[in-house]
Amino acid sequence: MKHLLKLEGMKEADARIILTLAKKAKKTRGDKRTDPGPLAGQIWALIFTKASTRTRVSFEVAIRELGGVPTFLSAAEIQLGRGELVRDTARVMGRMVHGAIIRTFAQADVDEFAEFAKIPTINALTDEEHPCQILSDIFTIEEKRGPIHGKKIVFIGDAACNVPRSWAEAAKIFGFQLVCGAPKEFKPPKIGGSVSWVEDPYEAAVGADVLYSDVWVSMGKEAEAGMREKIFAPYQINRKLVERAKKDALVLHCLPAYRGKEISAEILEERAQDIFDQAENRLHTQKGILEWIVS
Ligand code: CP
Ligand code: NVA
Repeated sequence: MKHLLKLEGMKEADARIILTLAKKAKKTRGDKRTDPGPLAGQIWALIFTKASTRTRVSFEVAIRELGGVPTFLSAAEIQLGRGELVRDTARVMGRMVHGAIIRTFAQADVDEFAEFAKIPTINALTDEEHPCQILSDIFTIEEKRGPIHGKKIVFIGDAACNVPRSWAEAAKIFGFQLVCGAPKEFKPPKIGGSVSWVEDPYEAAVGADVLYSDVWVSMGKEAEAGMREKIFAPYQINRKLVERAKKDALVLHCLPAYRGKEISAEILEERAQDIFDQAENRLHTQKGILEWIVS
């Protein structure tokens, strides 16, 4: 049985299967299916402790378009929110549904769920990783600029949070260079090999193929918002920073975006076509992930 719990340790061959399936899903979306779909007869639970627009909608639509049925469970509205153990919730779900997609805080909870539910389990974001996002972003980069191998991807902002941590794992798998421009308090936890860190965002951005941004205040860190906004103030993707990158550099953002904070309103609107193509690709890539996992 397969899971997608994190990118750490994933084989490039598996990631490539997902990307190939995603490409096919994008190309054939809307075509009449002649088969019932790879998720026919399956019910997939989405168990979310944190808010979501893109991940939730893309998975719900993907499951339906692949012939399955999604059931969305806000963690606050099931007994999990009242203290029922993850392992007990998992043992119940494993007897009733065919797969689970989980968004929560602790990576250990997703790992434990997979162990006890014994059904394919997907990490839809934890504090440690956001694997579905980064697979989808690689799909977007390759769609727009060709093979990611050897490229310079520059992450600006909180390099200690889930999104850049998954980028760092992806750099090892796909053979590209990840440079993080981040304050020292928020540098990447694992530096070395294909992952480097510099404190100056303008130095980081030099010669970038891709400039990438995420929120300064990740979900669960709201109490630190004031402190973070001060520390991250120089780490904004704006015109001056974009001028340091390659002429044809892509500007991407996993979204949601906060204009005037991690990205200027001007750059977000100027690059909206790419950034919202990136958001759309979440749908196609979720299909790739689901098809791979049940195959
Ligand atoms: N990028 C992303 O995961 O968006 P959501 O939080 O809306 O799912
Ligand atoms: N780092 C962000 C990603 C949102 C998609 C968070 O965890 O809130």
